[in-house]
Parts: sequence; structure tokens; C-alpha cells
Amino acid sequence: MLGLLVLALASFAPLAAEARAFFVFGDSLVDNGNNNYLATTARADSPPYGIDYPTRRPTGRFSNGLNIPDLISEAIGTESPLPYLSPELEGERLLAGANFASAGIGILNDTGIQFLNIIRMYKQLEYFQQYQQRVSGLIGAEQTQRLVNGALVLMTVGGNDFVNNYYLVPFSARSRQFSLPDYVVYLISEYRKLLMRVYELGARRVLVTGTGPMGCVPAEIAMRGRNGQCSVELQRAASLYNPQLIEMINGLNSQLGSDVFTAANAYDMSMDFINNPRAFGFVTSKIACCGQGPYNGIGLCTELSNLCPNREIYAFWDPFHPSERANRIIVRQILTGTTEYMHPLNLSTIMLLDSKT
Ligand SMILES: *[C@@H]1O[C@H](CO)[C@@H](O)[C@H](O)[C@H]1NC(C)=O
Ligand SMILES: *[C@@H]1O[C@H](CO)[C@@H](O)[C@H](O)[C@H]1NC(C)=O
Repeated sequence: MLGLLVLALASFAPLAAEARAFFVFGDSLVDNGNNNYLATTARADSPPYGIDYPTRRPTGRFSNGLNIPDLISEAIGTESPLPYLSPELEGERLLAGANFASAGIGILNDTGIQFLNIIRMYKQLEYFQQYQQRVSGLIGAEQTQRLVNGALVLMTVGGNDFVNNYYLVPFSARSRQFSLPDYVVYLISEYRKLLMRVYELGARRVLVTGTGPMGCVPAEIAMRGRNGQCSVELQRAASLYNPQLIEMINGLNSQLGSDVFTAANAYDMSMDFINNPRAFGFVTSKIACCGQGPYNGIGLCTELSNLCPNREIYAFWDPFHPSERANRIIVRQILTGTTEYMHPLNLSTIMLLDSKT
């Protein structure tokens, strides 16, 4: 009798616990392999990408190892969701969520056009809708809505609208159309529409990362920085954009009467280790581990590039993307950071609040 009961409990336990689904939208900072399935030049599916991943193989993540969604999943005790385009994402596995992110995309449709075939934000949201139809076929519409309402969502987009659009070439179309302050206002208004759409599609807990210190990545130090300093212009762009993003999110939350959106201050989280790399165990924050030219900041990270032997002591893995170790520092702040970093709530507070409802 007791044996049967234990057996019954054991087989229902995973269902009862109902791990929270996790959905990811955005660009290369959070893409975990969608671009592998596309005819695009924005890809990370060859060595040495993935050199420190558990399989030691490239996966499409723009990291030596784990990326931010992986580490958030690790922290909240779930499996990192599969890329939406992965053929393995079917059946039960759909219930853990999905990653819709695609390297190269931005808030605007015209961002990243040089990468050809990428999944722009409107398309990521269409896929989210399609995902929900597929899951409805498995567990019904009502349970699907519960799953989506109860999920955690991560949105990481915006950096490419500067780096791969406004500042991509001198006299770019967008820079002739807009002054920088006007462009930022336009981006924020377009981003607001995307966030409202995510809400309409059922998301109720959304982490929204601002842009990192775009001027301080090795690529920009190499191309635009003077004497190894961060690019002043790109830092100005980030310092205009990030406060307006927070303001927009505050507005959305008060309009919705609920803290649906949380702004993650990726800028300050990164500037901590950029300003003081040694305090975080890095030997440098200016030189990428993998790359070539000044600061290893020129071109792509490939098998022919310089490669540092120890990725633990580099803040940047390639000319644009943080190393796994730097991603861990960022995710620690997402989890437990003060309101300077996480506004209005950090993820551990969110998890605590949501476990009570
Ligand atoms: C982006 O393109 C899609 C599809 O053509 C369109 O529906 C959407 O309105 C566009 N977004 C913007 C901001 O222009
Ligand atoms: C963030 O998380 C930490 C640790 O869980 C907690 O002590 C702190 O009060 C939180 N901060 C905010 C602003 O919610």
C-alpha cells in the first residue's frame, strides 16, 4: 500500500512541481542556436565557439561556454530552453519553453540587413504565437495560457540598432534620418510596441535588458576608441538609451497596474568589471580572448584567430560578446542585484513572489 503510494507520488511529482517555462527573445547575446538553421552570416556554429561548453563543441551560442539564458535557467533550476528552430523541440520538451532569439537582429526591421536571413523581432513574436498553437494541441488552450502566463521571459535586443544600423557605416540611412537623441526616442517607441505585443501574447514576467556598454567592447575599442579607450559616441548612445528604456518600462507597468516588466541594467553590470577587471579576476576587459588585430577586436572569431588559453580571465570572449565568466557576473546581478541593477525587482524576489501565488 505504502509502496504504491510512493510510486504514485513519484510519478506525479514532476507534473505537480510544474517547472516554470522560460521564453527568450532577442539577439546574439541570447541566441542559443536558431541561426544554425538559417542562411545567414551571423553564426557561431564552428570552433572555437563552445570550447568550454559541456560538450566542448560549438552550439550556436556566441560564447566560449554558457550564455545568459543558460545561466538564468541554471539559477532557477530549469533546463535551458531549446532553440525554436531545433527539430528536437517537440512533444513534452515544448513545455519547458523555447528560445526564439536570432543573432544580428534589432528592434527595427532594417537592423542587421547585412546578415541576410535572420529572425527579426516581429517574426520571433509570430513564432511565439505559433508555439502556443502547437502547445495547445498537446495540453489544450487553457493549460497553454496558464503555462505562458506563469512563464519567465527574457528580452535582450537594442544593441544592434546602434552597432549594426545607425553606426554601421558613416552616413548610414538612419543617421541621416535622425539625430542620435531622436533615434533613441524612435527606438524606445518601437520597443514599447514589441513589449506590449509580448504582453498581449500572454507574458506576465518579462526581464528586459538594456544595452551593455557598447563603446567598450573590444571591436569598438579597436575601431573607434582612442588609445584603448571606449568609443565616446557609442557610450553616449547607451547613456541616452538606457534611462529612457527604464522610463518606458515604468510607464508600461503603471499602465498595466502590475510589475510585468523588469529592467536589467546590463550597462552598470558590465561597467563594474570593465572599470575594474582585476577585482573580478580578469586580466583584461579590453582584449577579446578570440580574435585578431588590435585588442583582438577586428573581424570574426574563427579557428585562425588568436585564442587565449584560459577563458576564465577574459571579460570578452570575442570582439562583441562576454565570456561565460562575465555572463555569470551579469546573471548574479540579475538574480540578487539591488534596484540600481534590477528595477523594480530582482529575479530572486520575482521567484519568491510568484511562488506564493
Ligand atoms: C517589420 O516588418 C513586419 C513584416 O513586414 C511588419 O509587419 C512590421 O510592422 C514591421 N515593423 C516596423 C517597426 O516597421
Ligand atoms: C535582491 O535579492 C536579494 C537577495 O535575494 C535581496 O536581499 C534584495 O533585497 C533584493 N533586492 C531588491 C531590490 O529586490
